[in-house]
Amino acid sequence: QSGDRLVVVSNRLPVVVKQVDGQWTFIPGSGGLVSALAPVLRNRGGIWIGWPGTSDADPATLSGLLREATRHSGYSLKPVALDQRDKEDFYYGFANEVIWPLFHDLQSHCNFAPRYWDAYNRVNRRFADVIMQNTRPGDFIWIHDYHLMSVGQELRAQGIAARMGFFLHIPFPPLDIYMKLPWRFPLLRALLEYDLLGFQTLRDRRNFLQCVRLIAPDLSVSGKGQVITIRVGNRELRVGTFPIGIDYQEFARGSKAEAVVRKARELHEDLPGRQVLLGVDRLDYTKGICHRFEAFRNALQRFPELHHRTTLIQVVVPSREDIPKYNALKMEMERLVGEINGQFTQSGWVPIHYIFRSLSRTELLAYYRACEIALITPLKDGMNLVAKEFCAATPENNSVLILSEFAGAAAQLQKGALLVNPYNVEEVAETIQRAIIMGPGERRARMHKLKRFVREYDIFWWVDSFLRAAIAKDLSNFPVP
Ligand code: UDP
Ligand code: G6P
Repeated sequence: QSGDRLVVVSNRLPVVVKQVDGQWTFIPGSGGLVSALAPVLRNRGGIWIGWPGTSDADPATLSGLLREATRHSGYSLKPVALDQRDKEDFYYGFANEVIWPLFHDLQSHCNFAPRYWDAYNRVNRRFADVIMQNTRPGDFIWIHDYHLMSVGQELRAQGIAARMGFFLHIPFPPLDIYMKLPWRFPLLRALLEYDLLGFQTLRDRRNFLQCVRLIAPDLSVSGKGQVITIRVGNRELRVGTFPIGIDYQEFARGSKAEAVVRKARELHEDLPGRQVLLGVDRLDYTKGICHRFEAFRNALQRFPELHHRTTLIQVVVPSREDIPKYNALKMEMERLVGEINGQFTQSGWVPIHYIFRSLSRTELLAYYRACEIALITPLKDGMNLVAKEFCAATPENNSVLILSEFAGAAAQLQKGALLVNPYNVEEVAETIQRAIIMGPGERRARMHKLKRFVREYDIFWWVDSFLRAAIAKDLSNFPVP
């Protein structure tokens, strides 16, 4: 049977299988990769191969649940099993204690334990085996993110005939940081095995090319613009920048649903006369949440007129809590919230509202709609979809986006957002003050620009341009977005 299907492969499936009150069930996965890819597969159909998030469910229960999830979603879900050791050494270990911090420029957070590299290769090989069992010639195999960089090499070794693309959702670090990685050369060589490599921004692609030049100084690079080509032996590797987007219409429409409008009104009625600042992040040290709290404290200290007039709602979605650095971050965040609230709270006004759980889609949209100012200040981020979702869901004449210049999204949204350096708490504090006093005319003009960008370069543009870059004969009409 011939193929032509889209086979998406990521560490995480879009659902997490787990036990709730003794019953096995599945819940939606969190994070940008799942939010971005779910509408793509819903729209196009295909297969999604990944880890169901547990090693404890027995095979019959697992396949029953994945069949049910397949019925709900309209595309097929295929599991890759990770046992406890894989989870520790591959997922927590190599992926999240080596690559995640290193690629976000935080080398001091890395734990370069040698056994992690073996686990990475072992699990990447297992993903390749499952892909081989589930694909046909003609399919397009699209591997995602830092957990699976070596899968393409494993597939080549197994003689795959289908074309293979890889997209990195997180940043690619500068040369001098990448060079700290003990396995820097084999990992780069593995990336060169794909037919198409995609990065979020031009900066990430430039960093990658600088590293590649080190192992292949006479590398021949041709073309310019969104997609360029490199000669690797007798093969051609295409390398492009594809800033990932969101399903704009879904967020715009969803934010006008009756339940969302009602909930947003209720949220704001509880905070009368306030300008509400909003942060929504997975629990992660890359998100700059503690720096953000310090900046808010600085604003309250320096601009007492903000007392009673503003509240920060910070939603933190639980993530990777078994990793010591994540657990330590949770404690530090909670300590800071307590300290700042203790310092400033007065009758009728609590400065920080802190929520530590996942939100339903209705709640998330209601927060986007109700809050006037999004305060999105990661220390480094591949893209940051929350920034784009806020723009799609917020009313036009009312809201301001404060965005870290180190989020991938800043490259696209710089004209409408107020850009800040998240390490500079005084600058962030002044920008909070500026956003609060900004008049409706400037708010509308800026948000109009933001919405236009987020609408035009949505998730369907992203997937179309990636797939076009994989098959196009002529790459000259790929302008950089
Ligand atoms: N999100 C979620 N659960 C929540 C709140 C938010 O899954 O309770 C989603 C949010 O809508 C966004 C994603 O998590 O799509 C976060 O993506 P982002 O790119 O901002 O950061 P990441 O978590 O991927 O680092
Ligand atoms: C980021 C990564 C994704 C990951 C997500 C959630 O968005 O780029 O690959 O799935 O975080 O993290 P988790 O460890 O729960 O999969």
